[in-house]
Amino acid sequence: MPEPRDIRIRDRAITITDEMRRKILDEMPEIEWIEDETLRANVTDAWAAAVASAGLAAIGDMRPSGNYDSPALKTGTQADHIRSVARMSLKIAEEMDTLFADFRYDRDLMIAGALCHDIGKVWEFDPENVARWRADPRKTGFPSLRHPGYGIHICLSAGLPEAVAHMAAAHSGEGELLIRSLENTILRWADHTFWLVAEAGGMLDADRDWTPPKKVGSGQ
Ligand SMILES: [Fe+2]
Repeated sequence: MPEPRDIRIRDRAITITDEMRRKILDEMPEIEWIEDETLRANVTDAWAAAVASAGLAAIGDMRPSGNYDSPALKTGTQADHIRSVARMSLKIAEEMDTLFADFRYDRDLMIAGALCHDIGKVWEFDPENVARWRADPRKTGFPSLRHPGYGIHICLSAGLPEAVAHMAAAHSGEGELLIRSLENTILRWADHTFWLVAEAGGMLDADRDWTPPKKVGSGQ
């Protein structure tokens, strides 16, 4: 049984308990697909810390959309988006691996990076942050940090590898400024595909009213 552990998010120590871990694993069962024990534990703990740092009770408490102001899924949660992208990413990699002998990818990294790619949304999607940024965009920016930027902070604070932080950091537009890893390239297009297919399939509702749940604990 893993011990409770402290992760510092913005200089606040968050104690990760087994109860917090269990809730994350219930919501994101694909974490169990990661074979490496340390990587699996760090992905679980990173999400537990991220959710607690924002005063959320669950990943699914975030608006189910790509950006804080983009159309939301009609049904399903933010966790479902992330799970689906991870599953799609893995299928792409497995498909290439099936037919091409020279295709090499890191399965654990593919799963871990995809499951953490939107972890920084706990900051960018926080309704109090959005209201603050909107009220005075020139003070700290609007948003001050997008989810890729804040995702780097969470991933590295939780002891996740550089390659996972890279996938959080550069799966979106920020990645146009650098060369993406193989796993991040797969993730980038799986993520993009998810939202395009959701749009084409009539799964989005630009006017979906999203009432954020009441914060738990002290939040940010
Ligand atoms: Fe995403």
